[in-house]
Amino acid sequence: MAATGRIAVITGGASGIGHATARRFAGAGDCVVIADLNEANAGEVVKEIVGAGGKAAAYRLDVADEAAVARAAEAIEARHGPVSVLMNSAGLLQRPRPLEEMDDQEEARVMEVNYQGTYLCCRHFGMRMAGRGQGAIVNIASTSGYMRLPMLAYGASKAAVISLTGALGVELGRRGVRVNAIAPGPVLTPIQQRNIQAGLRDPSKMLAGTAMNRWVTMEEIADGAYFLCSDQASAITGTTLPIDCGLLSGIGWSMMGGIPRG
Ligand SMILES: NC(=O)c1ccc[n+]([C@@H]2O[C@H](COP(=O)([O-])OP(=O)(O)OC[C@H]3O[C@@H](n4cnc5c(N)ncnc54)[C@H](O)[C@@H]3O)[C@@H](O)[C@H]2O)c1
Repeated sequence: MAATGRIAVITGGASGIGHATARRFAGAGDCVVIADLNEANAGEVVKEIVGAGGKAAAYRLDVADEAAVARAAEAIEARHGPVSVLMNSAGLLQRPRPLEEMDDQEEARVMEVNYQGTYLCCRHFGMRMAGRGQGAIVNIASTSGYMRLPMLAYGASKAAVISLTGALGVELGRRGVRVNAIAPGPVLTPIQQRNIQAGLRDPSKMLAGTAMNRWVTMEEIADGAYFLCSDQASAITGTTLPIDCGLLSGIGWSMMGGIPRG
């Protein structure tokens, strides 16, 4: 696959990790299509990329709506040409609550967007890529898919995305399409900033378990996504790459209090 000039669809590209990834792909010469529910923000991202000399377009999409995803795949290809890169970054975070206070609608919506939305986009764009025998998909999972956090649907949805990525990495890998995921650790995106400001997250506690004691930057996730969709990753499919400043490895050290001195 050529490193530039591809059509890259980025769900959730209107904010945070998806936004940074749109900038990364466009900066390397790809045409990015921002597929997001938030039309106003998507339009701003397009303006920014086009203003910097890149190619971008916006498409309003609810990834949890199967008919809309099928229409989007058809319309985007009719307008821009064959899509050879898909990044699934559209997602919802969740407020931790005790069982007594669970919001069942929120639970269902988080699963619907984070898992079902990823699955539907993989299916409808992936089938088209497989028909041409070429493409790369990167799903945004989370380290929460491996750990147990007090966000029931969020953790389950991300574990499901990791499982989906493995299974499709095999099914589509046999048909020329590589499917991988990234499991980000804590990234200071607009939604995280809002959570911190609202007192729902304590940054010092979030970072304490990381080996590097810092946030992952959105650009570091974007670089990982770009790599996984490039020819440099031509033998990689079905895997999930943690980009987490060492959170998955560091959490045990943090629990032990590190190496005792003296
Ligand atoms: N920020 C973190 O620390 C972190 C860590 C691990 C994983 N993630 C994952 O990264 C992804 C992006 O998160 P972010 O922090 O950049 O969030 P964000 O809120 O900044 O961006 C998410 C984007 O998804 C869009 N979106 C939401 N529901 C949608 C739907 N149904 N259809 C289409 N678009 C929809 C939003 O409009 C928004 O533009 C999510 O899947 C999230 O779970 C984030």
